[in-house]
Amino acid sequence: MARFTLPRDIYHGKGALDALKTFEGKKAMVCVGGGSMKKFGFLDKVIANLKEAGMEVEVFEGIEPDPSVDTVMRGAQAMEKFQPDWIVAIGGGSPIDAAKAMWIKYEYPEITFPEMCKVFGIPQLRRKARFCAISSTSGTATEVTAFSVITDYEQGIKYPLADFEITPDVAIVDPTLAETMPKKLVAHTGMDAMTHAIEAYVSTANCDYTDPLAIHAIRMIQHDLVGSYNGDMEKRDAMHNAQCLAGMAFSNALLGIVHSMAHKTGAAFADYGAHIIHGAANAMYLPKVIAFNAKNETAKARYAVIADEMKLGGSSNDEKVALLIAYLRKMNDDLNIPQCIAHYGADSYPCDQGFVPEKVFLERLPEIARNAIGDACTGSNPRIPTQEEMEKLLKCCYYDWEVDF
Ligand SMILES: NC(=O)c1ccc[n+]([C@@H]2O[C@H](COP(=O)([O-])OP(=O)(O)OC[C@H]3O[C@@H](n4cnc5c(N)ncnc54)[C@H](O)[C@@H]3O)[C@@H](O)[C@H]2O)c1
Ligand SMILES: [Zn+2]
Repeated sequence: MARFTLPRDIYHGKGALDALKTFEGKKAMVCVGGGSMKKFGFLDKVIANLKEAGMEVEVFEGIEPDPSVDTVMRGAQAMEKFQPDWIVAIGGGSPIDAAKAMWIKYEYPEITFPEMCKVFGIPQLRRKARFCAISSTSGTATEVTAFSVITDYEQGIKYPLADFEITPDVAIVDPTLAETMPKKLVAHTGMDAMTHAIEAYVSTANCDYTDPLAIHAIRMIQHDLVGSYNGDMEKRDAMHNAQCLAGMAFSNALLGIVHSMAHKTGAAFADYGAHIIHGAANAMYLPKVIAFNAKNETAKARYAVIADEMKLGGSSNDEKVALLIAYLRKMNDDLNIPQCIAHYGADSYPCDQGFVPEKVFLERLPEIARNAIGDACTGSNPRIPTQEEMEKLLKCCYYDWEVDF
């Protein structure tokens, strides 16, 4: 038996924030990040709409990018004090993911972070509150997914929490919010969405319900991402829907090792002054992982379908896979994303000498590879790498070497 779960309601299109006016409840806790939602007036609109619905509103603000376990615990305490029956999270993946984890802790105050990380092991929620997610970036699709990514800074590791219990009750996908994104964020979140759609399509858990969502998302992202990056606001709006479709696919079909590697490298070099931003990590690793996975015939055939749907040409499956890889690398160039970690600057742009020193990378490689294999996203990848293969793959991602194994 398989399960396909989405939010009960997805309000989309311009003006979708008005849906909040129809919510029924007494108290809403609004969770938000560092300031962009306030600056552009979206936070005020959310508060006003919830008040119009007759609710008392409290705001938990300042959730940082790549949220920490500590922030989750603080937010849960604030919820415990306020006792909301609605949790409304607005912003990018970071505040929404943090709010999902706070929700678990609010419903089960005794639960520990390692217990939350048990894949598909989260106890039943909605005894205290329901959850609404309003996305302001076009990438993570956390507004419709069963995932939350929380960083344990003591270990320098990102942990994906996964369970349909944390699939929001309501998603609001209003493209107006995405229009204020700076270019770099458009690029990174857009390639995150492309990775979601491609990994979902070749995942071992793909099915007839997820395939059309993944394929349509891939075609839209191909059509709209670079234009959106270059300031076309119609394409920007379309990308907000495309990333959500990709999210509906991967929340049910799961992901693969591009994400395992991104999760385990993202914060691994934070002591050298930067993160490898999630979407940029995916964009760099995706072409390498496609070459690795394509050694599996089923995966190769599915990548070839993607190439056909994108109308890339090619007569054999091998040719189609090569064309897909070349196309994705060209997208990275068009979006000013480096092709490998060695050229990833602390500001995320391509440069000759990246912020991760070669020596440090090689020292940490065995442990990162072990952690990546153990990541929750590895199980649904079409090819399960050995420790040796994962180390080689990560080296290819560092040096931009070709994957021939
Ligand atoms: N839950 C999931 O299914 C899932 C999937 C993929 C990634 N993630 C996680 O999500 C996080 C990344 O989320 P993200 O890429 O959405 O970015 P983010 O939430 O970390 O936001 C990045 C920055 O962009 C700003 N910002 C957000 N929206 C804006 C807007 N509309 N205009 C101007 N500025 C804006 C924020 O203030 C912040 O400074 C990572 O921790 C990643 O691991 C989660
Ligand atoms: Zn992602």
